[in-house]
Amino acid sequence: MQEYDRENVAKMFDEKNWNSPARASDPIHDRVSQLSLDSLELSPTDILLDIGTGNGNNAIKAAKYCSRVIGMDISQISLETARARASELALKNITFAMGSFENPSEELDITSQGITKILATYSLHHLPDKMKPAAIKNLAEILQNQGRLVLGDLMFFENPKNHTADFDKAGYDGGETDFPAPVELLIDNLEKLGAKCQIEKVHPLVGVIIADF
Ligand SMILES: C[S@@+](CC[C@H](N)C(=O)[O-])C[C@H]1O[C@@H](n2cnc3c(N)ncnc32)[C@H](O)[C@@H]1O
Repeated sequence: MQEYDRENVAKMFDEKNWNSPARASDPIHDRVSQLSLDSLELSPTDILLDIGTGNGNNAIKAAKYCSRVIGMDISQISLETARARASELALKNITFAMGSFENPSEELDITSQGITKILATYSLHHLPDKMKPAAIKNLAEILQNQGRLVLGDLMFFENPKNHTADFDKAGYDGGETDFPAPVELLIDNLEKLGAKCQIEKVHPLVGVIIADF
């Protein structure tokens, strides 16, 4: 049974400082991050939302290629770490705010920020499948149905039961707090909202979807 417990997920990321700069490199995660960042095709006029930003690694990398970045997360400690890192680097065009796929305007009115692109790496899969359609709709609304959404994440291209030996390698906890969707579910929901999608399979359990609205 897929159950989302926001408090528990936030606590987990508060405690584990998951993507600290000191974390050992992880080939699949690193490849997905790079492919996702490249797929954004950022330009100096873009305003990017990085949702589920964690410690802001991708948001910070993106900041030099676009006008402004908003990093959003539900983990207060991750947000504080991200702010400290951006401040150390003297980045002036990056803001970090509390908010979620379910309620992106929790701290700031996200629809009035002029967001042109959205990045979500390894974050959407924390929502159970029943919550994903509304979350994807929120993202399309933030883009005002124009612009690009890049989802680099755990997602099932094949039956996960055939890949149990690879769960650790893919970063999948087997269904405790990770609820990857079948790729078709993500694509159906994006296409229903008018997006044209490209799909990059990185591993049978991991991929990148580039959705243009
Ligand atoms: C595995 S980390 C990924 C961090 C970063 N995007 C990366 O790829 O390195 C997942 C992040 O998603 C955040 N998250 C989980 N559920 C979320 C939700 N409903 N809305 C926004 N962020 C969420 C977590 O707090 C955590 O920081």
